[in-house]
Amino acid sequence: MVGVSGASGTPYAAAVVRGLLAAGEAVDLVVSRASRLTLLDETGIKFRDAHWQDDLREWLVLGADGKPHFGEAVLDDVRYWPAGDLAAGPSSGSYPAKGMLIVPASTACVAGVALGLSKDLLQRVASVTLKERRPLVVAVRETPLSGQTLRQLVALDEAGAVVLPASPAFYAGATHIQDLVDFVAGRVLDAAGVPHRLYRRWKGELGGARSPEGD
Ligand SMILES: Cc1cc2nc3c(=O)[nH]c(=O)nc-3n(C[C@H](O)[C@H](O)[C@H](O)COP(=O)(O)O)c2cc1C
Repeated sequence: MVGVSGASGTPYAAAVVRGLLAAGEAVDLVVSRASRLTLLDETGIKFRDAHWQDDLREWLVLGADGKPHFGEAVLDDVRYWPAGDLAAGPSSGSYPAKGMLIVPASTACVAGVALGLSKDLLQRVASVTLKERRPLVVAVRETPLSGQTLRQLVALDEAGAVVLPASPAFYAGATHIQDLVDFVAGRVLDAAGVPHRLYRRWKGELGGARSPEGD
């Protein structure tokens, strides 16, 4: 399960979904109402429930130049669930799911999941993930963080979630914004145990990421 909530950082979500699909994982996707605003702001894409396949293709497959940058076939492995559909399959613990990645996670989403509000399908699936003792990764994106949010993040940690701030690192030889995006997405996949090659791992050599043969 991948939940995209309304924090800034929709490129992280795209990179995580692509990474899961590249690793051969099927993806169940929930996109919150608020995240449509961030997606519109950050990509220009209007995400519509009724046309989710077209909009997802524009988001995940096409580059800014309108040409395909990623394989089209991967979209066959995405199942999309409208955020308002609380009767959807994944709202039940009986729905087969390995775990959930919330990327990015807004502070509103953090609060909702910490309190078990289930105000939409995304929050409900997160609560189900916790109650079923499945892995939950929460890639929170906000700065600075209020004491209230910090306490809610501790509550999520204590409930078994991995709290993973969307904070890119610069030790992996980043030269483009996409490198920073891929670092965060790669750490999310690491937390879920999904193999990937999104960033260069630390090898104990200062400056190693800059060497031409660095891998
Ligand atoms: C352009 C834009 C950027 C936003 N960025 C953030 C953010 O980085 N972090 C955050 O916690 N909320 C952010 N918000 C506010 C959330 O979208 C808002 O709290 C919303 O209620 C979240 O709802 P959701 O968790 O159901 O998606 C942003 C809103 C907009 C319109």
